Amino acid sequence: MSSKRKKIGVFDSGIGGFSILKRLVEILPGHEFYYLSDLPHSPYGNKSTEYIQERCQVITETLLNEGVDLILIACNTATAASIDSLREKYSIPFVGIEPFVKSIESLDFKDEQLKPVVLTTIAMGESDRFKSLMKRYDPDLRIYHQSCPSLASLIEKAFEDGLSSVELDLETELKTLVNKGFTHAILGCTHYPLIETKIESFLGLKCISPCLPVAKRVAQLLEARPLTGRTELFFKTTGEESFKTFEAALLSLG
Ligand code: DGL
Repeated sequence: MSSKRKKIGVFDSGIGGFSILKRLVEILPGHEFYYLSDLPHSPYGNKSTEYIQERCQVITETLLNEGVDLILIACNTATAASIDSLREKYSIPFVGIEPFVKSIESLDFKDEQLKPVVLTTIAMGESDRFKSLMKRYDPDLRIYHQSCPSLASLIEKAFEDGLSSVELDLETELKTLVNKGFTHAILGCTHYPLIETKIESFLGLKCISPCLPVAKRVAQLLEARPLTGRTELFFKTTGEESFKTFEAALLSLG
């Protein structure tokens, strides 16, 4: 375990990665975090694999220029499209996030009442990585899958407009899941945990999010521990010149 201050790069198509950044800041106070939002090129959920791979490369270069020690791909869709090629090309450690991984163990498949649904973007749901995860974690086909074409963008907009999650209208995206007996929703897009309680009350189920275990994986890989100094948070969107500091209070929506 090291007491050296680490620089941790985090990126997403927008503010979705805040859901993991929030956990990271909780478990690793005193370190430096560089958050890059690819807002001008969002959402990733309706883009091709090639497009997302290109974006991830540009973003990686930007974060490397800041001297980060590790890059957290705080986006399921970008992880599916790019983590393998990024790991091949760069020697820095990458941590990704994927539905099921580190979240599925909380489900009791012996329970016959169990009826989980996994929510993803369209690109994530269509990716080879998602299909192979489904095969690996759900060989008995117990988990229903729903792609949500605009949910990430709705959350992004609510955040921009400064709305509370209560004002978000989930009707168009999730109404087909209401009253279908679903017991759990696995959140397969990092935007969704930002409105976790809203999804739980709208669908009457429990949400499962891998954000905390993923944050712990970052700490483990870096051999980092909480430090007593000030936590430094830097943010920018792609296209902007330089990172600016921001306050941890901005990390939650409503
Ligand atoms: N937050 C991203 C994810 O985890 C995707 C949102 C988007 O469609 O850009 O998949």
